[in-house]
Amino acid sequence: SLPIALTGCASGIGAATAALLASRGYTVIGIDRTATTGFAGDFIQADLSTPAGISAVIEKLTTLAPQGLAGLANIAGVPGTAPLRTVLSVNVFAVRELTRGLAPLLGERASVVNLASSVAFGWRSVAEACRDFALAEDQDQALEQAAADTAIAENSYLFSKQCVRLLTEQLAAEFVGARVRVNSVSPGPVQTPILDDFKKDHGQDKVNSAAELLGRFAAPEDIAEVIAYLLSSQPIWVNGTDVRVDGGLVAYRSSSVP
Ligand code: NAI
Repeated sequence: SLPIALTGCASGIGAATAALLASRGYTVIGIDRTATTGFAGDFIQADLSTPAGISAVIEKLTTLAPQGLAGLANIAGVPGTAPLRTVLSVNVFAVRELTRGLAPLLGERASVVNLASSVAFGWRSVAEACRDFALAEDQDQALEQAAADTAIAENSYLFSKQCVRLLTEQLAAEFVGARVRVNSVSPGPVQTPILDDFKKDHGQDKVNSAAELLGRFAAPEDIAEVIAYLLSSQPIWVNGTDVRVDGGLVAYRSSSVP
């Protein structure tokens, strides 16, 4: 069967998803800026924060998967402790440009999965700002405007994941004629290296309170299971939507349960 391209394969959720897919017989082509030894399939080392890095990935995937791809998992992401341009370029523009750029390789029944976050559940209230940024043709201009907008600059990670929710619906619409599905997965806090940065960014107590409520943080495998399901050809009618995988955190916090 055709391979699945997966970004962020060197760590955390991406590494767990690559391992799970491989154990189920899929061929995975991993992409990351960090070299990785624990990866069985083809590996492309690239920096997804620049258009040049993204073009290089598309070119290499075209060579490695001449018959096309069964799927694309946009898992690579950076926390809000990284510079604003990096957060927005990797978390938003890389998802958009990689998906659009790989259109020729994504045949009928292919599946694309983007990593959003449970923190972005209220994204529709800022859909206009997300649209202006995430769909902007001029990336440099959009990044400059975002840097000047304090609401975005002070919450770059949140905004980037709200944009992923918007982009998921947008890309699903763009690909509907090609019969390619595009969905997102929204984890709550997951025990991976990024979690320490979230604690710095959002406050230790807020992040830790999730584990107190739920008994633990999510394991990367808890998220990988859902990503792998969406990438498979089973959920053929699930398209343009988001699956929250947060152990019930958002439901609890927005409920009246004391
Ligand atoms: P992680 O830090 O363990 O892995 C992220 C991977 O992305 C790393 O291997 C890193 O090298 C790669 N990456 C970052 N920037 C890159 C670039 N410019 N070019 C190529 N590769 C790059 O983090 P984790 O937890 O596995 O996160 C995966 C995704 O899940 C991210 O999009 C993250 O925002 C999202 N997420 C994570 C949550 C968590 O609590 N861990 C919660 C909600 C969403």
